[in-house]
Amino acid sequence: MEKLKKIAGVRAAQYVKNGMTVGLGTGSTAYYFVEEIGRRIQEEGLQIAGVTTSSRTTAQAQELGIPLKSIDEVDYVDVTVDGADEVDPHFNGIKGGGGALLMEKVVGIQTKDYIWVVDESKMVDTLGAFKLPVEVVQYGAERLFREFEKKGYKPSFREHDGLRFVTDMKNFIIDLDLGAIPDPLAFGNMLDHQVGVVEHGLFTGMADRVIVAGQDGVRILEAHR
Ligand code: A5P
Repeated sequence: MEKLKKIAGVRAAQYVKNGMTVGLGTGSTAYYFVEEIGRRIQEEGLQIAGVTTSSRTTAQAQELGIPLKSIDEVDYVDVTVDGADEVDPHFNGIKGGGGALLMEKVVGIQTKDYIWVVDESKMVDTLGAFKLPVEVVQYGAERLFREFEKKGYKPSFREHDGLRFVTDMKNFIIDLDLGAIPDPLAFGNMLDHQVGVVEHGLFTGMADRVIVAGQDGVRILEAHR
């Protein structure tokens, strides 16, 4: 699996050209993309500015000597490469398994060419087997949790080392065990209207391309919109 992640991440780096502002995703697949960008900067003199999607990726990028800008310093991002936890045939995805969904979405919506890199196990017919991460403000999080419970969403607070996981933006994550999400757009819209929800891991109508690495090679799926 690690090999496939690397193949997808490195392949995506081909979309990066001199002078671009580049969104650097988070997670074990995007890791290889960031690493490849670092290599090209060192070995080929590639000139780009990176915009990161988490403190973890910031640390990796700094270590590799990738020049960084904050998202507020740029008008748009030329290309962003990020991982995903599940992708359906309509280019809808679940993201946030690594807890970085809020920053990832902020960077993603400002990106002209938004690319996901996945191994083939992430491709599904219907989203929802992967627990949907919902980022919520800490204040009143218990109330939201109970609401989700009442609605049958089987919520659980994300934990890390036995404590509640706190995101880079200082929020909690509640994971919803939905099983299947037949209408991701509608479900996402509903979550957008819950007071206390900052953002959720449903990324609909955003990805322009998905690079899928499988046992039989790499497929590049393009969204036509
Ligand atoms: C991080 O919050 C996520 O959105 C990741 O992009 C996603 O979880 C995919 O991660 P992996 O590539 O590690 O599976």
